[in-house]
Amino acid sequence: MPFNNKIEELKKRKEEVLQGGGEKAVAKQVAMGKLTARERIIALLDEDSFDEYDMFVEHDARDFGMDGKVLHGDGVIIGTGTIYGAPVAIFAQDFTVAGGSLGSMHARKITKIMDYALRMRIPLIGINDSGGARIQEGVNSLAGYGEIFWRNTLSSGIIPQISVILGPCAGGAVYSPALTDFVFVVDNISKMFITGPEVIKSVLGEEISQEDLGGARVHAQITGNAHFYSESEYECFEQVKKLITYIPWNNTRKARKFEPKEPKSSFNIEDVVPVDPKEPYDIRDVIKSIADDSDFFEIQENWAANIVIGFGRLNGETIGFVANQPLVMAGVLDVDSSDKAARFIRYCDAFDIPLCTLVDLPGYLPGVDQEHAGVIRHGAKLLYAYSEATVPKMTVILRKAYGGGYIAMSSRHLRADFVYAWPSAEIAVMGPEGAANIIFRKEISEASDPEDVRKQKVEEYKDKFANPYVAAAKGYVDMVIEPSETRKLLLHALEVSSTKVSDRPHKKHGIPPF
Ligand code: HXC
Repeated sequence: MPFNNKIEELKKRKEEVLQGGGEKAVAKQVAMGKLTARERIIALLDEDSFDEYDMFVEHDARDFGMDGKVLHGDGVIIGTGTIYGAPVAIFAQDFTVAGGSLGSMHARKITKIMDYALRMRIPLIGINDSGGARIQEGVNSLAGYGEIFWRNTLSSGIIPQISVILGPCAGGAVYSPALTDFVFVVDNISKMFITGPEVIKSVLGEEISQEDLGGARVHAQITGNAHFYSESEYECFEQVKKLITYIPWNNTRKARKFEPKEPKSSFNIEDVVPVDPKEPYDIRDVIKSIADDSDFFEIQENWAANIVIGFGRLNGETIGFVANQPLVMAGVLDVDSSDKAARFIRYCDAFDIPLCTLVDLPGYLPGVDQEHAGVIRHGAKLLYAYSEATVPKMTVILRKAYGGGYIAMSSRHLRADFVYAWPSAEIAVMGPEGAANIIFRKEISEASDPEDVRKQKVEEYKDKFANPYVAAAKGYVDMVIEPSETRKLLLHALEVSSTKVSDRPHKKHGIPPF
């Protein structure tokens, strides 16, 4: 064979690159409980589907001992493959090669695959495991980050962008994941922070571990930076794969349609919601009693848990569910839950995923802490996101829908397409107790038995407003329905809204209260 020698050389060269940073560095990676970059790609993608590009790229740095230094693949692997048959573009930083640090050629590989993903209109997955800007390359690495951030923003709303944090992701490097749609973290492995423990110690004199500063739990529970948390890398990859089944390849396509399945009989909608409006229950059981196969893929499960967001399916089509969670702080809206829901609504709207909103909340959370934390500014994001969204919007009011909470949770006034209320719905400016105390203050305080009069007035207010019929009389609610009818009506709503048009005045873009 004439090419035998050449083929041998190619094989040899490939073999060298496959060594990554060498035996010692790989052993260190394994000792930290981490997979290598290549193992990660193989675990995530369909078998034999990965094609690697730019395997032989070399860095071009000369200073600080870099001249002649071999860094295989320049510390990052890029390519394309499939997940359950869906095409994806992927990069994985290789910590065994110079700590996965980002030099100019490393950045160029990442931006190349980002450009490819955008051009082909396919999802982009980034696996981050890096010591950050390659210190020897100075401003060239900073330029590389800037190029990545710009592309993250350009691609936003066109292709799904997914970040998997499987090692350090420090300094400005954290902003690429923060600009993407979904961030996955793994316990004990993921670390995200702007300034590390050493800097904090020297500047502020405070001692803190990397884990407590920006470990997986911190981002899944406290900051809200992470959307999915898992205990192991393999579990994390299963989550990424599941997510891919719910979302479309790009903003011009629908998500893949599945075979419709009835909810499981173990989730009976009529048994879930207690009649007493003060009694808590898990709203996720309502979603599971509505969604196909009772399957609900929750996002940001452990952060701002007073609101629940995630994907399910109705008649095989992906739906974004947004629901108050009476189990946590009675389901009130606050700074974090408003942020959480608003961003998800914008995601669903950008990717043509219909929204189903389940309402049961006493309103926005009162108090100095919330006011000073900016509940006005953050709460406005939710109003903006629902008002702006043009995908089919279906709302079901289960029990309480008080005050600003009623308006914010995809009300008719923010252009919900379908508003259903259960007979147990209470649509009012505020709860009967608070309302009676305010509007009948004088009668109550001047009565010979103030407590008795207060109770009477509360009942009076309840009779008048704590029901869905005043809103139904105005057409703010389209139908008062029995709980058991909910799924059937949502399926119908979805069917009749598949050709929905939405005319909006032309503008460059709005100015949401970021
Ligand atoms: C060059 C780096 C590097 C970096 C790690 N390495 N980070 N090389 N630039 N940023 C190299 C190390 O020199 C070492 O090389 C190898 O990678 C493995 O690193 P270790 O330190 O041995 O690993 P470990 O003990 O696990 O510590 C990991 C680490 C630490 C915590 C990430 O390496 C570290 O603190 N790195 C620097 C982090 C940092 O400050 N980055 C810059 C952030 S500023 P050898 O050859 O010895 O094996 C930034 C700005 C971005 O990123 C701004 C964007 C807008």
